[in-house]
Amino acid sequence: MAIDVGYRVEDEVRAFTQQPKRMLINGEWVEAASGKTFPTYDPARGKVITEVPEGDKEDIDRAVRAARQAFETGPWRRLTTSDRGRLIWKLGDLLLEHLEEFAELEALDNGKPVQVARAADVPLSADMFHYMAGWATKIEGNTISLNVPYMPGAEFFAYTLREPVGVVGQIIPWNFPLLMAAWKLAPGLAAGNTIVLKPAEQTPLSALRLGELIQEAGFPNGVVNIVTGYGETAGAALAAHHDVDKIAFTGSTEVGKIIAGAARGNLKKVSLELGGKSPNIVYADADMEVAIPGAAGAIFFNHGQCCCAGSRLYVEDTVFDQVAEGVAKQARSTELGPGLSESTQMGPLVSEEQLQRVTGYLDSGFQEGAHAIAGGKRHGDQGYFVEPTVLVDTTPEMKVVREEIFGPVVTVSPFSREEDFVGRANDTIFGLAAGIWTRDLSKAHRTAAALKAGTVYINCYNVFDAALPFGGYKQSGWGREMGHEVLEQYTEVKSVCTKL
Ligand code: NAI
Ligand code: MG
Repeated sequence: MAIDVGYRVEDEVRAFTQQPKRMLINGEWVEAASGKTFPTYDPARGKVITEVPEGDKEDIDRAVRAARQAFETGPWRRLTTSDRGRLIWKLGDLLLEHLEEFAELEALDNGKPVQVARAADVPLSADMFHYMAGWATKIEGNTISLNVPYMPGAEFFAYTLREPVGVVGQIIPWNFPLLMAAWKLAPGLAAGNTIVLKPAEQTPLSALRLGELIQEAGFPNGVVNIVTGYGETAGAALAAHHDVDKIAFTGSTEVGKIIAGAARGNLKKVSLELGGKSPNIVYADADMEVAIPGAAGAIFFNHGQCCCAGSRLYVEDTVFDQVAEGVAKQARSTELGPGLSESTQMGPLVSEEQLQRVTGYLDSGFQEGAHAIAGGKRHGDQGYFVEPTVLVDTTPEMKVVREEIFGPVVTVSPFSREEDFVGRANDTIFGLAAGIWTRDLSKAHRTAAALKAGTVYINCYNVFDAALPFGGYKQSGWGREMGHEVLEQYTEVKSVCTKL
């Protein structure tokens, strides 16, 4: 079924959303074995865009078989690392050639402002492929001198090889649909693995279009397989599959724990990038012209649907009113609208479920005594919009302070110079990111050292780069994505020991 998307979009986007969608297994575009499909929605209007195949266990089996065959006997493993890198580079180039199309597809399916997708999501995704393309030729082992005390006088030659892990399952979320695919595919491919990717059910379109570019770039069949479907069925089958060597997941901490459990059967390797409740600290000596818009951007970017969102804002008491009111002013003046409207600064949340979840948190905050100095409720009655919201009068025990809301909602709390507020900032089960705003370099780096977080931003926030590792302490996850660090997650070390 196909409907008019109802916006002015690129011809390619219209054509893509009007064709029946299929998924990519072994280089072919196929329907689900069951023949079932499910709808993907335009969150700005709550209307169906199109239907995609509802992949399930049987489709995951097929995709894993294809990936296994491509890994063991296909041409992929015989490519030189230079040729492998070139394919990955080409995919980055193709993304840039189709930048506008992908930006619109993301805005349509996810709801994010097209200007943001154009400036950030698509270029960052392309850059991820370009950056990782370079690593394909630079993955190396070491030579190691041995001592072996129980074999006196014996001589050895020992070295390590870094080999691909094998067949990798990758399960990604809906907040940055294309970028999350790029974060996972690029290093997995650079290291020589074959992949079964399951996009989020809320936002399958850009991954399927990326699959077409993967074909166009010339990757051998079965190297990348893309199965659309629900988490509890297709996702669960992939996480539990006994012929999958590694599973990489980004999403909720709750599902991360389920994935870790499912991986137990064959002890596949697991990397997890999970939730956050990141503290953002504004000292009184910060440059307020930078810190106030920075604190607003830290939470409101991508409508707060960022695992690293600066959702707990701590402000030194002498500047509390100035900062809280400054962020609130920014919230009130934000233009909400459909992602595909050029003037939109904040789009809808991704789904009805997220709308319910986020407004549920707002209700809980108000019941527990918090007050909104900006926003506080759903915006309009069409689509899944929530007003950017600034909450004050919170206490450390409130759910709105402790749990990940994943919406445009920030709590602002004062701290005094004498207090151990770093302890308060670290008082969370999460440890993904943190922010610090100050002009005092020593204080900035002292605070950075004391924060338990995988990324600490100083006088900036939400800076992502293919070269900068990203991931979490504590229940924010296992392992790191991006940078050369991620290659550890996609390679096995083989020690080879020779007696001379
Ligand atoms: P989720 O964790 O359920 O979904 C993420 C991915 O996992 C999707 O592809 C989904 O299909 C898959 N999945 C779900 N259940 C699965 C299972 N049992 N086995 C295998 N795969 C499964 O997240 P959801 O429900 O979309 O959002 C709920 C909350 O999760 C959000 O409010 C937010 O707090 C958090 N979240 C965090 C993200 C992050 O970037 N760290 C991204 C998305 C959500
Ligand atoms: Mg879920």
